[in-house]
Amino acid sequence: MLNKVSIIGAGTMGAGIAQWFSQQNVEVELVDIDSIVLEQAKNNIYGSWKKLEEKAKFTKDEIETFISKLKFGPLYDSNKSLALATDSQLVIEAIVEDLDIKKNLFQALDEHCDEQTVFASNTSSLPIAALSKELSPSRKSNFIGLHFFNPATIMKLVEIIPTQDTKTELTDQLITWFRDKNKKPALCSDSPGFIVNRVARNFYGESLRILSESGHTSDNVRRVDSVLKECGGFKMGPFELMDLIGIDINYHVTQSVWDSFNKEPRFAPHLIQKQMVDAGKLGKKTNQGFYKYE
Ligand code: NAI
Repeated sequence: MLNKVSIIGAGTMGAGIAQWFSQQNVEVELVDIDSIVLEQAKNNIYGSWKKLEEKAKFTKDEIETFISKLKFGPLYDSNKSLALATDSQLVIEAIVEDLDIKKNLFQALDEHCDEQTVFASNTSSLPIAALSKELSPSRKSNFIGLHFFNPATIMKLVEIIPTQDTKTELTDQLITWFRDKNKKPALCSDSPGFIVNRVARNFYGESLRILSESGHTSDNVRRVDSVLKECGGFKMGPFELMDLIGIDINYHVTQSVWDSFNKEPRFAPHLIQKQMVDAGKLGKKTNQGFYKYE
């Protein structure tokens, strides 16, 4: 079904999604407004493929094919016009979690791309219907939420979020395609946080409350993480996971889900999150979050 995909945003998620699609022998273009981010994404993906080749997960020939299928480029050309292909079958947006910025991008893409191009957002928390609301009627029926998890090359779950306007056959085709590619698609309703991020709010929220009551020390961070991993069976503790996701991203998602639920206290963001964002302690990407990284 899918031979050519464009991915917008070469950050944590966009790069992982692009790598995964390339490994499915799909032609991929990964674009961003920031050339440094694009260079980093390229280095990370190539570095990851090198390691996978060393571990014999892929052959040299396979890696060469993936490399030939994955192109990197700017989102806009020097005239500030969109520079991505017009004829991709699917465009996945993985840019900053901001409703207005995403909506503006989709409106520009609506004019730029072929009528049959499917648009998808990887948003963690914004309503899919709000993102597609002002697009042309044909695009609305070709608009869907595709929520990948970090790291996208490894995590099998993909939440599939149709709106009331999404064509049923598109949802069905995508579910079948992802299943064939060994992902685990889960059909979700377009409700705040979908399934995982809604349930996960309390995983993070309660852990932050425990930390604030017991004292924000590295021993307490470690203790909560170990209890949940060793006794709760979670692969990662809440603090390790927040560091991986990015404290800023996780904070935005919490705020967005809280707003969407009319500020229900059980979804409220915690002051510790805000303090860490203000201090630039954003997790692994800044080498400092709840843990310190080299
Ligand atoms: P990130 O901050 O790592 O990357 C965002 C990228 O978007 C950056 O490279 C930035 O240059 C680019 N960007 C920002 N504004 C742009 C614009 N106007 N046009 C084009 N590019 C622009 O963010 P991350 O973590 O990759 O998140 C991206 C999206 O994926 C967000 O919607 C987030 O909620 C969602 N998401 C994040 C997950 C995570 O674990 N970090 C998991 C699942 C979804």
